[in-house]
Amino acid sequence: MRFQGKRAVVTGGASGIGRATALRLAEEGAQVWIGDVDETGGQEVADTSNGKIKFRRCDVTNAEDIKALIEEVDAAGGLDVLFNNAGAGGAKEKIDEISPDDWDRTQNLLLRSVALGIRYAAPLMAKRGGGAIVNTSSVSALGTGYAPTAYSTAKAGVLHLSKMAAADLAKDNIRVNAVIPGFITTNIFTRHLEIPDDKRDIANQMIAGAAAMAQPVKRAGRPEDIAAAVAFLASDDAAFITGTHILVDGGITIGTRQSWDPEMPGMFAALDALA
Ligand code: NAI
Repeated sequence: MRFQGKRAVVTGGASGIGRATALRLAEEGAQVWIGDVDETGGQEVADTSNGKIKFRRCDVTNAEDIKALIEEVDAAGGLDVLFNNAGAGGAKEKIDEISPDDWDRTQNLLLRSVALGIRYAAPLMAKRGGGAIVNTSSVSALGTGYAPTAYSTAKAGVLHLSKMAAADLAKDNIRVNAVIPGFITTNIFTRHLEIPDDKRDIANQMIAGAAAMAQPVKRAGRPEDIAAAVAFLASDDAAFITGTHILVDGGITIGTRQSWDPEMPGMFAALDALA
């Protein structure tokens, strides 16, 4: 019950990682506010929470929506934890094809939203002696081949923003960290690929199957894996941790596939025949 008596905001809490984190924080005692554009999904999570989770419509590309959500929680007794997590795949185009508007839309959704969440939460947390902020980055912040260019660039921005904000806000006893999820089975992929609703379950099974093969830990990543790390970073167990990140990726960024997959011949395997 690390969050007993505390209040938390989770953006993107209607689905996937945000939903699992809202449930985890509530299970550990927090009163949680979900902010999301998915009203049906958000309300569903709230309705099954015994009053521990509330839903408020919030489009994180809209500054006023973010401000209003955070102020509602402040007015209810004060904000202790903010999880800036809402997101989607963004523009699919490569850098030589992307339009200025699509670039802006993706950065607004994934990076500006996080900056504004911190912007509005920080003074209110400072006023009451501190707080904890966690932001969702991605393995695509660390290398190529995981996600499109605009998304990956925004997620790299989230990582550095987490450090900068931790430095800016240390004076107010506000800790800021990031979580870096690997390949986690959620609806983000089916939404991005525009797979129709009636094919979503089968698509998610296929995604989970592929995910289990993608990294050294031989199972698909689950939203609960990320929720556990976020709950740790947001709790007093992480009281001495700020300006950094936790990588929860089943080892997908560990190194080349040859280093961990015995089925994959090493770069110099053919030379064995010459020895
Ligand atoms: P998801 O699609 O299950 O959940 C994303 C949630 O964000 C949805 O409920 C959606 O309605 C909400 N959302 C989208 N646009 C919004 C907006 N403008 N305002 C408010 N809410 C909005 O996907 P998932 O995987 O749970 O994604 C959560 C975060 O994790 C995202 O930031 C994503 O980029 C990140 N991530 C996910 C990974 C994965 O493998 N699933 C890997 C790395 C990062």
